Amino acid sequence: MRQVILDCDPGIDDALAIFTLLAEPDVAVLGMCATVGNVPVDIGYRNLRNLAAFTGRSDVPVFRGAELPLVRGYAFDPLVHGEDGLGGAELPESSAPVQTENAVIATCRMLHEAPGNVTWIATGPLTNVALALRLDPSIREKVDRLVVMGGSTLRGNITPVAEFNVWADAEAWRVAVESGVPLTMVGLNVTHQVACSKEDYAEIRRMPGKVAQAADRMLAYYEEVYRRQGWGEAKLHDVVAVLEAIQPGICGTVPCSVAVETASALTYGQTVVDDRAKIEDANCDVAMAVDAGAVRRSMLSAIASF
Ligand code: RIB
Ligand code: CA
Repeated sequence: MRQVILDCDPGIDDALAIFTLLAEPDVAVLGMCATVGNVPVDIGYRNLRNLAAFTGRSDVPVFRGAELPLVRGYAFDPLVHGEDGLGGAELPESSAPVQTENAVIATCRMLHEAPGNVTWIATGPLTNVALALRLDPSIREKVDRLVVMGGSTLRGNITPVAEFNVWADAEAWRVAVESGVPLTMVGLNVTHQVACSKEDYAEIRRMPGKVAQAADRMLAYYEEVYRRQGWGEAKLHDVVAVLEAIQPGICGTVPCSVAVETASALTYGQTVVDDRAKIEDANCDVAMAVDAGAVRRSMLSAIASF
């Protein structure tokens, strides 16, 4: 049974990724952590608790993490995910016990307590991840893979060269990249290839379950934002990363040397990916291809299963 810890900033595509993760029978989700990112951490933490309860998985403990990025400030922009972070989906309030342990401490504890190694997944900025790696570098020995949605080998999205999760806390990404943790980067160069088709939307609308109805509501909001902004189809960024973590190989990866820009105002948050690197110099497996159809089919199957 694959053991997983998820760190995220829900967020609509985070929510779809969480549905996909929690539906997987061969995965033991040890815990889920909220970090500042798409929304302030209080909203992300509330969304994460409610997503766990809504899917009948209040057994998965949810922890509140970083309020602010490591160095830079934080300005919340509701453009993409809405003020509530879930496109107005309005999930019922969870009645699960509130975890008073901070996400960073809890992550280190869960990694040490886990029998065997853990697949650590991050679909938001890496602030919690960096703090955990700095607090207790020995946790690296318990991580089989840290699979992260972030970065890009090509263009950015929040700036011409930076992807949002890196741009939100580039110093945190630098800590992770330089930590020696076994890192897999699932960047925009692959996630931009993955979006629901019209048939997918119609299939979700035909599903009877409440999770499908919530997913339909979130996707409708998300798709409208993308359409209004002229960004094309609504991209399932975080779903790709979660599926690479639980179905290794859904992405094709290449060992590269990755560096992160933290000094330049112009290119802050850019991931500089060197695929010329010799294997021994590589610090990250970088996704260069993805089976987009398999991602979409897995997500639809997961949503239908609740
Ligand atoms: O750039 C895409 C990433 O930024 C996704 O994780 C999305 O949820 C936002 O956090
Ligand atoms: Ca996210």
